[in-house]
Amino acid sequence: MDLGLDSKVAWVLGASSGLGRASAAALAGEGASVAVSARDEAKLAQSAHAIEQETGSRCVAVPLDVTDAAAIPAAADRIASELGPVEMLVANAGGPPPGSFPSFDEDALRAAFELTTASAWRLAQAVVPSMRARGAGVIIFITSSSTKEVIPGLLFSNMMRAAVVGMAKTMSKELGPDGIRVLCVAPGRIETPRVNALDQVHADRSGLSIDKVRAESWSKIPLGRYGEPREFGDVVAFLASGRASYMTGTSVVVDGGLLNSILS
Ligand SMILES: NC(=O)c1ccc[n+]([C@@H]2O[C@H](COP(=O)([O-])OP(=O)(O)OC[C@H]3O[C@@H](n4cnc5c(N)ncnc54)[C@H](OP(=O)(O)O)[C@@H]3O)[C@@H](O)[C@H]2O)c1
Repeated sequence: MDLGLDSKVAWVLGASSGLGRASAAALAGEGASVAVSARDEAKLAQSAHAIEQETGSRCVAVPLDVTDAAAIPAAADRIASELGPVEMLVANAGGPPPGSFPSFDEDALRAAFELTTASAWRLAQAVVPSMRARGAGVIIFITSSSTKEVIPGLLFSNMMRAAVVGMAKTMSKELGPDGIRVLCVAPGRIETPRVNALDQVHADRSGLSIDKVRAESWSKIPLGRYGEPREFGDVVAFLASGRASYMTGTSVVVDGGLLNSILS
């Protein structure tokens, strides 16, 4: 299937690793020109270079901390001048810290809000005016299966991402008439550094070996394994493309069948 992304401009955040990197690679693999952002400049430059080598598409590194509100419009302007206005935004960053209600204070609450919720809002604010002016655009928020079934021990993911889904749904209603689609993609357990780190936290807390923790986790997934980042990135590329032109205002779960809810 040709996704028709040749020379379209995408901006993918949290793209030096894991799901963001895989999404950027999938979009570039379909011919899109991609700007990738994350904080660690050296790692980001390496990822951009590798994506260019792998795909032959243009990939520009635009270092950015998504919690730096002032830097977001500046990054969008830089991308517009180097590649053209952003036509596909994939908003993503590292996840908020694991922990339960009694373990956090208000500073932690604010930090999680800035990282997960406010960043999604600000990134969308930075691209919507030019999308509106052109009458087309796609905004994809990478969320989590926690938006469908809360995950014990991940209070801030459960909380902050629900707000992103509410925002995305509302935006889809408001921006659909302008030709802008807004979607969430919710990973279950995709094998990335983040998932490996969470498994290690679980192993340290429980005293179980990391292999045992992973085996237990796999046993809850009907497909019997974690997803590969590529399997996630391909879904993002499809949703960003005109092949998904009638999809907006929904959350697509990529979880190997993990969730139990029939509403997922
Ligand atoms: N993997 C899964 O199965 C899974 C499941 C549910 C939810 N999620 C969520 O999906 C998101 C991506 O997960 P992942 O597994 O791909 O994580 P990952 O491998 O740790 O990658 C996170 C990426 O985000 C960047 N990043 C972190 N904080 C940032 C910030 N403040 N500003 C800009 N970039 C930032 C990181 O680079 P720098 O550190 O250099 O900035 C890195 O490129 C996370 O929010 C995670 O919680 C993942």
